[in-house]
Amino acid sequence: MAGNPDLVNLPDADRLITGLRDTGYEFTTAAADIVDNSIAANATTVSIDLELMSDGRKFVYFADDGDGMNDVQLFKAMRYGAEQRENLASLGKFGLGLKTASSSICKKFTVISRQSALDELAKLAWDLDHVSKINEWEMLKETVTDEEAEKFDELIGGKGTLVIWSKCDRLLGKIFQDPGGTQEKAAMTRLNNKLKKHVGLVYHRFLDFDDSRIHNVAIYVNGEKVVPWNPFFPQRSEQVLVAEQQEIEIELPDGGDTKAKVKAWILPHQKDCNAEEKELAQHSNKAQGFYIFREGRLIDSGGWAGIWGAPEPHMSLLRIEFDFDHSLDEAFHVDVKKSSIRFDPGLEEYLLELLNPVRREAERRYRRKSKQVLGERGIDHASSNISVQSTPNVAKPTVTEVDESTKTVVVTNKNGPSIRLKTPVEKASSPESLHIEAVDSFTDGGLWEPVFRSSADQLASVGVKINKLHDFYQKIYQRASSSGYSVQGMDLLLWAFCAAEQNHSNPELEEIFEDLRLEVASNLRKLLKDVEIPEGRELDS
Ligand SMILES: Nc1ncnc2c1ncn2[C@@H]1O[C@H](COP(=O)(O)OP(=O)(O)OP(=O)(O)O)[C@@H](O)[C@H]1O
Ligand SMILES: [Mg+2]
Repeated sequence: MAGNPDLVNLPDADRLITGLRDTGYEFTTAAADIVDNSIAANATTVSIDLELMSDGRKFVYFADDGDGMNDVQLFKAMRYGAEQRENLASLGKFGLGLKTASSSICKKFTVISRQSALDELAKLAWDLDHVSKINEWEMLKETVTDEEAEKFDELIGGKGTLVIWSKCDRLLGKIFQDPGGTQEKAAMTRLNNKLKKHVGLVYHRFLDFDDSRIHNVAIYVNGEKVVPWNPFFPQRSEQVLVAEQQEIEIELPDGGDTKAKVKAWILPHQKDCNAEEKELAQHSNKAQGFYIFREGRLIDSGGWAGIWGAPEPHMSLLRIEFDFDHSLDEAFHVDVKKSSIRFDPGLEEYLLELLNPVRREAERRYRRKSKQVLGERGIDHASSNISVQSTPNVAKPTVTEVDESTKTVVVTNKNGPSIRLKTPVEKASSPESLHIEAVDSFTDGGLWEPVFRSSADQLASVGVKINKLHDFYQKIYQRASSSGYSVQGMDLLLWAFCAAEQNHSNPELEEIFEDLRLEVASNLRKLLKDVEIPEGRELDS
């Protein structure tokens, strides 16, 4: 091939191999890149072992029973920028993952492989210290140690591949004072648990033997079988897009087109789940958002991928399942780590339109439940009742007659004696609710209404019923509930309105007073529309 040798400018081995360590992998995403290779090699079982030695050295072993490689294939596989895979739908794409994922965590990675139990084990390693020392792209070809052969037998047996990470300087976030001691062991256990969770989510379709969309793989972490976690909780969630909405036609850069798939899941509210269901649903603010799958493997999750802003509690019941295949890699700008994509503006707009009604529905369900839960949460109105009870000299009507069956009272008020008023008449259930009581029986959307209540020693006296389900009660009263004075102040204000209303009312005015109350209630609802219903933590504080 013609070329100008004066212009050939090879990369500096030491600088580049070291620089490639910082491509932004975390341990879990790096480990998943190695698992991708095993799955692409048709493995049915993958085992990951994390080991901490007593002197603080750490090793990670990835073993699979996939197709394996011979010497020549292994040599090619170890090249930075390996050959393109024949199967474009495989989980590998760039020819880099094995190397960049491994070196982001460790300084030496070794691959041992064979294609049948009868073959010799092929082995090659990259050791970054060696490359830096000689500043050449030179691998190590060491003999297979007894320990490695044993590990291969123990975890694989016949054909397959073993990847070993040693010199793991970036496995744990810090250097421990007592290497291999209690604290470092605890950190390894935490990492082990984090990995199980990550793998259980990322490969949940592969791990779930009941999921027929994709072939099955069993993954073990330190001998423990990873349990799949399906974030959509299909046992109880509702998928709200109809069939036609679930397919999105997308134009490819080359002019062709292909389809992506989308499903919108609304989870049941946490308060409607039992302990086992809560475990399965894993409600949390962070878990809302898009779950993006490439070829059945999750590559990005949580958050709204630029479609909407940051996660908000009232959107927390919504999880979107978004599926695409390799033909959209370029269109979606899949990155080397295969851990994120970017939607183009046209698709963003389409998704926004498609999902806005779904979002509103998810928010409505969340708010309705939150309101109900708040409604069940009592606020203490006892001191307000005591205040009214112990203040006899306030202006108010005097009741002379009560008819519970027709809900009328006859009062003496500012209009004179024998004023007949149509007002709820009730027996007080307790002295603490004689004058002020919050109820959930309002049917007209009002915030408060007068009531006449009788007790054992009183014919009837004016009181107020407050609507527990009105926004003012939910958003303002609930927030004020930790300060007794604020609740008392609002209670007394509403009671004073009722006393004044009943002290000035007559059969003609009654309707006007009622209209006035309903208008105030409606205005307050509008004024409070942007105020969020308080969350558990806000209320507790
Ligand atoms: N566990 C394995 N079993 C068999 N072959 C493997 C295994 N791991 C890697 N390979 C081979 O090594 C090659 C390079 O792997 P590498 O992960 O670097 O790139 P890739 O998977 O092709 O692309 P990507 O950069 O997207 O991961 C693969 O194409 C595959 O042929
Ligand atoms: Mg790969």
